[in-house]
Amino acid sequence: MIAIVLAAGLGKRMKSEKPKVIHDILGVPMVLWVLKSLRNAGIDYSNIYVVTGYKSELVQKILPEGVNSIEQKDQLGTGHAVFVALEEIHKNEDILVLNGDVPLIRHETIMELKKLLEFSSHDAVVLTMKLDEPSGYGRILKYGKGLKIIEDADADSKTKRINEVNAGIYGFRYEFISEAIKQVDNNNEQGEYYLPDVFNFSGNASALIIGDNSEVSGINNRVQLAEVQKIAQKRINEKHMYNGVTIIDPENTYIGPDVKIGKDSIIQPMTFISGCTEIGTDCVIGPMTRINESIIDNEVEIIRSEVDSATIEKGSKVGPYSRLRPGAYLQKNVKVGNYVEIKKSKLGEGSKAQHLTYLGDSEIGKDVNIGAGTITCNYDGVNKHKTVIKDNSFIGSNSSIVAPVVIGRNSVVGAGSTITENVEDYSLALGRGRQVVKKGRYRKDKSEEGEK
Ligand code: UD1
Ligand code: CA
Repeated sequence: MIAIVLAAGLGKRMKSEKPKVIHDILGVPMVLWVLKSLRNAGIDYSNIYVVTGYKSELVQKILPEGVNSIEQKDQLGTGHAVFVALEEIHKNEDILVLNGDVPLIRHETIMELKKLLEFSSHDAVVLTMKLDEPSGYGRILKYGKGLKIIEDADADSKTKRINEVNAGIYGFRYEFISEAIKQVDNNNEQGEYYLPDVFNFSGNASALIIGDNSEVSGINNRVQLAEVQKIAQKRINEKHMYNGVTIIDPENTYIGPDVKIGKDSIIQPMTFISGCTEIGTDCVIGPMTRINESIIDNEVEIIRSEVDSATIEKGSKVGPYSRLRPGAYLQKNVKVGNYVEIKKSKLGEGSKAQHLTYLGDSEIGKDVNIGAGTITCNYDGVNKHKTVIKDNSFIGSNSSIVAPVVIGRNSVVGAGSTITENVEDYSLALGRGRQVVKKGRYRKDKSEEGEK
């Protein structure tokens, strides 16, 4: 069995410069949701063919490795898209066809449709749903052992009242589709070659009515994009809650489809978690936090912070108002606090940077205390340089550490220092102007002036 995913349309109704199918749902482009379900239904990426057309390079760029793409130069309709694909594929295998703008289809449903085709003698099968408000969708007209699909634009008032509609997911026997697709014409209201018209050429087809309509909501405009996103959000959040994660306000928590969260973790409101982020058990995340592509161990707290492509080990605390940028690596029980930015830097076990600090391209040992306002000056205008601060050292507040530089173990940097040279182990480094006090040289205050 192979699968063709239709993704060539411009998506006029989206009013976008981008092809419709690359618009994101919870951080993942719509068409990738379809590919993932297909794979979970047992269709290998190598057996999936995505038909691209409008700005095809933008679609091809996001396709996972191994997935095939076929270009439909002119978008003359869904029937034409399948025609173009079959010209190129030439495999004598039964075929699933899925619309790329119906992202929430579950793999279980795809498997059911696949089975219906495999274990029947039907030429063609289609997934359908019953809607109270069917407008926009193709209507299913059943007769004898066959069916017809009439597009909304072509339907008369009686047909428009049919509430069973085409969900845009089909299974075809190869011998049937390879011939029928050639016979589809474009004599219709929209002047397009409609894929559903192939059902006109079989007297042996069947519809599988889906139980859960939300799975097959199509996206044609941004209102539907938001609606589908809501459905996806609910589905994902409920999965985590059933697995033992507390989500305080599921309506205001946005978790991507590939995120993993351990049990007894608590997700506070207004939190966004995306990419292949993994969160351990007993964590507290949020409120108002964004985490992307990060690995977070058990018992970590992250409050009101931004975390991107970072690793955080057990027991660490981040925020409020911290920003961990790519390559931030906090080992066990690290504390990172208010207005601290960390980029491409490792902090060893038990180290702390609690206030107003920038650490970039640094390697910081165990139990180091980074005082308020410490800045690693890692960039000289051309190159980035590394800062090393070894175990048990103490950096006084408002220090500038000009890289490349190494500060040894158990050393202290005096507050307000600018450190440009290496500091040995067990040393005190001071790099600041001495304080001068000039006695009696004070400024008279106003009250004294008035008394005169
Ligand atoms: C289509 C069905 C309709 C069904 C609905 C379900 C047709 C003619 N109609 O309508 O019966 O109820 O889906 O959601 O198929 N595409 C191409 N090449 C083209 C045209 C479209 O690849 O030349 C792709 C689009 O990118 C999209 C998919 O096919 O992913 C469906 O096209 P769209 O125009 O959205 O069809 P609908 O009007 O929604
Ligand atoms: Ca559509």
